[in-house]
Amino acid sequence: MEKRRGVLGVVGTGAGGVEALRTGLVEPALARGWQVAVTLTPTAGRWLRAIGEVDRLEKATGLPVRDEPRLPGEARPHPPVDCYVVAPASANTVAKLAAGIADNQVLTQVGEAIGTLDLPVVVFPRVNAAHARHPAWKRNIAALREADVRLVYGPDVWSLYEPREAPSGRELPWQAVLDAIDDAVK
Ligand SMILES: Cc1cc2nc3c(=O)[nH]c(=O)nc-3n(C[C@H](O)[C@H](O)[C@H](O)COP(=O)(O)O)c2cc1C
Repeated sequence: MEKRRGVLGVVGTGAGGVEALRTGLVEPALARGWQVAVTLTPTAGRWLRAIGEVDRLEKATGLPVRDEPRLPGEARPHPPVDCYVVAPASANTVAKLAAGIADNQVLTQVGEAIGTLDLPVVVFPRVNAAHARHPAWKRNIAALREADVRLVYGPDVWSLYEPREAPSGRELPWQAVLDAIDDAVK
């Protein structure tokens, strides 16, 4: 185990490959010395609960997985986060983050983090060529870059295929995501 690095807020959304969040990102981050607190969009929460991954994530991290807001009287279930990573980020979550929409627990936490001083945010948009051709996409990416969000994005890390034409079983670029986290907290 490496030296303790603080709390990594790992965020998953309803995008392909989120099923491997634990093995691809959470366990490697734990091995690198992070404490990991996982938050999921409602869609990702449904997907991961259905395959038993929410339980496994809670066992691995020792913290509850959040996919809904707490009640005002409830204590915060996670410790304060030192760095956020949204991987995979759906086109939907990227668009809402760029617009400042905060209508679920992921968007509430990450949207605030984007505006917080000295709180790095890494985002891997897991999108296809059609998402990227949408007229809002360039603006969304530019807005996140302008806010100093570190994007794991581009043909060297994630080739854009037309919908339903990507080779099946494509692994997400977890190593590039882990490297971006290292870079963000240097
Ligand atoms: C099996 C499946 C795979 C999906 N994969 C992706 C994806 O890789 N990228 C993406 O942007 N949307 C994908 N979607 C669509 C999103 O799940 C959908 O837009 C959803 O509203 C995203 O919500 P969220 O951003 O709150 O998680 C997928 C949907 C399904 C059913």
